Amino acid sequence: MEKGSVLIVDDEESIAHALEKGLKREDFLSFVATSGVEATHLLTKREVDVAIVDLNLPGFSGLQVLQYVQSNRLLTEVILMTGKATIETAVSAVKMGAYDYLTKPFEDFDRVLATVHKAWEKRQLLKKVQELEKKDGPRDSFHGIVGRSSKMQELFRLIENVGSSDSNVLVLGESGTGKELFARAIHETSLRAGRPFVVINCSALSENLLESELFGHKKGSFTGAVNDKKGLFEEANGGTVFLDEIGEVSPMMQVKLLRILQDGELRQVGGVETKHVDVRLIAATNRDLYQCVKEGKFREDLYYRLNVICFSLPPLRDRIEDAPVLAYAFLNRYSEKLGKKVSRISVDAMQSLQEYRWLGNVRELENVIERAVVLTKTDVITARELPPNLLGQLFYRTEEGTDIDMIHLSYQEAKERAVAVFNKTYLSTLLQQAAGNISIASARAGMDRSNFKKIIKKSGIDTNLFKKGT
Ligand SMILES: Nc1ncnc2c1ncn2[C@@H]1O[C@H](COP(=O)(O)OP(=O)(O)OP(=O)(O)O)[C@@H](O)[C@H]1O
Ligand SMILES: [Mg+2]
Repeated sequence: MEKGSVLIVDDEESIAHALEKGLKREDFLSFVATSGVEATHLLTKREVDVAIVDLNLPGFSGLQVLQYVQSNRLLTEVILMTGKATIETAVSAVKMGAYDYLTKPFEDFDRVLATVHKAWEKRQLLKKVQELEKKDGPRDSFHGIVGRSSKMQELFRLIENVGSSDSNVLVLGESGTGKELFARAIHETSLRAGRPFVVINCSALSENLLESELFGHKKGSFTGAVNDKKGLFEEANGGTVFLDEIGEVSPMMQVKLLRILQDGELRQVGGVETKHVDVRLIAATNRDLYQCVKEGKFREDLYYRLNVICFSLPPLRDRIEDAPVLAYAFLNRYSEKLGKKVSRISVDAMQSLQEYRWLGNVRELENVIERAVVLTKTDVITARELPPNLLGQLFYRTEEGTDIDMIHLSYQEAKERAVAVFNKTYLSTLLQQAAGNISIASARAGMDRSNFKKIIKKSGIDTNLFKKGT
């Protein structure tokens, strides 16, 4: 039977590797993180059945990893590893919901494996119960967020589950995936619904005025401060502050933000008394914030403060089954808004919508549908109303597997790449059919053998791959 996945979190590599080896022998799929940050990153990236976490990690501790699992309602059982000195902490962690703890150094490795086994079995049971519970079928939308895919259903459930929590939230996702929409939905389902939702675009904040914008200022406290002014945090009191584009803030601003987060107290620029503000923070970025932390561009302590609950929004191309419901939702929105009676999308148009790569995600789809509703003269959107780059093969996949929209290249460059892609497909297919025989293939292509060979070489095709018996 296929076993589950186990994440080992320990900064002592010898222990991590011994565990990894032992678990692999038992057919568990195991992988290692050497810090708390790396662990939380992996936990949001992939499904983990059991996490074996050292209590005493540098920076983000084992207990914080446990808290992360719990705040994010992750389906992961946590087993803690502890030295003799911290057994008491481990015991209280079990009371908090950890599955069990193991004392280091391990005396009996079989017991370690048995504990992982039992934790995994418990996880299996809970999974079954959950599957039975969610039989009520997919929802097409949730607080204005449209999507039927299982990824979106999971995110809808996560919003509901964390609704009553007041923890800070980090929303990650490419541009146009709906980060702001999610932030609003999280606010609306929280106990703070009905209180203000204040958007702060971090990349637009000026460094000099940051404090005054966030905290407000007293009249006359600096040139230009002609009146008392409330800061954005105070305006949001009782509600939620949405820190958009958090990945763009400079190191100096990161320090200042951290200070606000740490004490929740603010003092107006030029003011004397401190005020207490009660706000929940939701931060969003289209950057890989974990990578920024690793590269030292984003403070680790600030990352921890913000990343208590993490929503990682998938790009539209990874849940393309959402394209039809989204397209129809936008069709209805824009035909109503524009006073038109467009009610259908033709089969070929829908096919193009589902084949396109959507590097601009839902925002791009929304724009495409709006444009099509404007253009159509009937009650149907057909392929004619779609932009040309959606219809042709205007995507070029590089060797590294990233897609480039060729519409951004010059004609000459785009043509060269399109020809290269065509050559590769055409020649490989031909060679495949000719079982790697160049004479046969070149004859079928209507070319002379030496020219044909040249093109094959230029296209980087290895003819040996097509020969029988290889
Ligand atoms: N799942 C969805 N359902 C309906 N509309 C969506 C969905 N996702 C995104 N949108 C729409 O797409 C547009 C872009 O969404 P949003 O502004 O939330 O994206 P974003 O992730 O914040 O992008 P950026 O990083 O560029 O700021 C908005 O008009 C939003 O209403
Ligand atoms: Mg946004």
